Amino acid sequence: MSLPAHVAIVMDGNGRWAKNKGLPRSAGHKAGIDALRATVRHSVRRGIKILTVYVFSSENWQRPDAEVGLLIELFMASLNDEMDELNSNNVRLKFIGDISAFPDKLQELVCSAARNTAGNGGLQLVIAINYGGRGEIVSACKKLFIELHAQGRNAADITEQALRSHLDLPDYPDLFIRTGGELRVSNFLLWQLAYTEMYFSDVYWPDFDTAEFERALASYVRRQRRFGRTSEQLVGTSTNALRGICRDGNGKV
Ligand code: IPE
Ligand code: IPE
Ligand code: MG
Repeated sequence: MSLPAHVAIVMDGNGRWAKNKGLPRSAGHKAGIDALRATVRHSVRRGIKILTVYVFSSENWQRPDAEVGLLIELFMASLNDEMDELNSNNVRLKFIGDISAFPDKLQELVCSAARNTAGNGGLQLVIAINYGGRGEIVSACKKLFIELHAQGRNAADITEQALRSHLDLPDYPDLFIRTGGELRVSNFLLWQLAYTEMYFSDVYWPDFDTAEFERALASYVRRQRRFGRTSEQLVGTSTNALRGICRDGNGKV
């Protein structure tokens, strides 16, 4: 199989990385930014089309206030610092999650970062902040309900495609990577991961480097994605055709 078009990453393990080194958790989060920069660069080199990264979950508000505050500050500082390189690498930024919960200055920064990179045609970098998969599905349901109600339509018009069109992220990742050794999804992209290939790494996020990224990609290309079919049915089917099946539910090969 060819390389994944869309990679989604739960960047986990910053705190434990720091603890192992006798450093404060903040040092782990700072080192995590370096790992993300390297991962974006490598995604650009490898021609990956979409990279979706989990930066802050809707459950991460439950961390101590000082850590939440630090994560917000680091996020804003690094977004500012990286804009020039992102632009020169032709990266387009998209943000998913409920940003209205953040301070105004963060919301303004996010909007201007998306606007300033909107014309870039290279890698799409999707940043999930205050994102939760359950919340995303509930808000998509609300939007679909309002739309159907306004058109005088009813529950029979609720389809997978209609609901999907109201999600923050309608694209389906081909490869999911979680670092940090935990074998869970933690409320990330619950709808979208239905047929995504999973790769779990024991490496803490700050240690996630090109070699580990390549191991994940190599694991992906060795797999056969069947989308419910048999191996025999898939002989001679291209990855793109398979992606079409994934996108359209039960479309024919
Ligand atoms: C991931 O690392 C970063 C965020 C969740 C913001 P953690 O901070 O969760 O690191 P561990 O899991 O405690 O090691
Ligand atoms: C998931 O990591 C969220 C992010 C990486 C942003 P967590 O560290 O919050 O996940 P749990 O709590 O271990 O499930
Ligand atoms: Mg964690």
